[in-house]
Amino acid sequence: MENRSQWGTRLGFLLAAMGSAIGLGNIWRFPATAYENGGGAFFLPYLFALLTAGIPILIMEYTIGHKLRGSAPKSFNKMNKGFEWIGWWQVAISFVISTYYAVIIAWALMFAWYAIGLDWGSDTQGFFLSDFLNMADPGVFGDMVPKILIPLLLVWVIVLGVLSRGVKKGIEIANKVFIPTLVVLFLIIVIRAITLEGAVNGLDTFFKPDWSRIADGSVWIAAYGQIFFSLSIAFAIMITYSSYLPKKSDITNNAFITGFANSSFELLAGIGVFAALGFMASQVSTPVTEIVDGGIILAFVVFPEIINQMPLAPFFGFLFFASLVLAGLSSLISISETYVASVSEKFNISRTAAVVFGGGLAALISLAYATQGGLVLLDTVDHFIMSYGVALAGLFEVVAIAWFFKGLKDLQNHANEVSDIKLGLWWRVCLGVITPAVLGYMMIQNLSTELT
Ligand code: PFF
Ligand code: NA
Repeated sequence: MENRSQWGTRLGFLLAAMGSAIGLGNIWRFPATAYENGGGAFFLPYLFALLTAGIPILIMEYTIGHKLRGSAPKSFNKMNKGFEWIGWWQVAISFVISTYYAVIIAWALMFAWYAIGLDWGSDTQGFFLSDFLNMADPGVFGDMVPKILIPLLLVWVIVLGVLSRGVKKGIEIANKVFIPTLVVLFLIIVIRAITLEGAVNGLDTFFKPDWSRIADGSVWIAAYGQIFFSLSIAFAIMITYSSYLPKKSDITNNAFITGFANSSFELLAGIGVFAALGFMASQVSTPVTEIVDGGIILAFVVFPEIINQMPLAPFFGFLFFASLVLAGLSSLISISETYVASVSEKFNISRTAAVVFGGGLAALISLAYATQGGLVLLDTVDHFIMSYGVALAGLFEVVAIAWFFKGLKDLQNHANEVSDIKLGLWWRVCLGVITPAVLGYMMIQNLSTELT
């Protein structure tokens, strides 16, 4: 199988990798996480996590894919037969995430539509939880919420359609359209947000550093957790994507570009979100600190409320939810590609067959979140995936490669052959010592908060 698919251009690969990285995590996870963990002071642990774990792991995953030219299970198998399961573990996590990520994108699609008529009215919380998700009805897990079925189907048709067209004609083209569009839409939103009344107050709240938090271990865990999720590392994605790189590709350079692009987008989102919160605070005369939220509630309850108060509300509402859709789709494409690639390689079936089986199964399972109990289920699954799945996947990966297989030196030589920025001892220390220590600590902390 040496006629492996390849990216058409370096930019194509970079946009796909950025497309995977830039997602809902940047828009609604980062701003709240930073705010809750020291505001401006959070940038210190965040930057530290980016440089000691984020980019070093990204370099490692790019090197693994580029050198071994396989999806995650196959690449791990080529390093050592006993490691294949680590690849499958990562693929399994991606599979589970894809089942609920798709549902959130479907919601965003519906809300882009609702924005045009500001259909959510003035009680945005009631609209989202009761009218939209039907959560108040009896039979919590039983009944489907029919209005979500068509957008959900549409999401899967787009994603699986793109994947079935392959790497160059599908994934690459989709990202070449989605990512530049996303950046333009998002810039318009952020510029609008920072020129609204009260924006400065919101930004003040966001950036005001609380240095006393720096000594708190949980702040550092939050920083590393954010970096892992945000850069899509330890999800089998970056290994898969880099396995389609042409032989002559600079690895370390690409990793630094991906890492900094993702963080820039994250910072931009933080500015946009807090400027908007500052505006809202000024409209309802409440302190910003009382309306800060993250995640699903920020996007589907707080933002509609902010949009209601803005001039040209339908226009900016549409742009906001369209951005969520684009950011989400490019990430969902990457998560789903992990199982499409692994299944087709493992069982020697065509890409199309793998898309139908793997994607079809994921789509079917995603229906569970389209029930009245969907949001509760989603929160529960997401909690376990984030607290254990990801940290364990990263821990297995670095410990296996750095300690058992002692493979870092080989990977380092491989990367240095093709890259401008040379790896050295610093890189091996980040992966062999710092990352396992942090991830191990993270696991213990998460487990002990679970048990208390
Ligand atoms: N990196 C994406 C984000 O920041 O939103 C999310 C993500 C994509 C996480 C793909 C996991 C994943 F497998
Ligand atoms: Na991200």
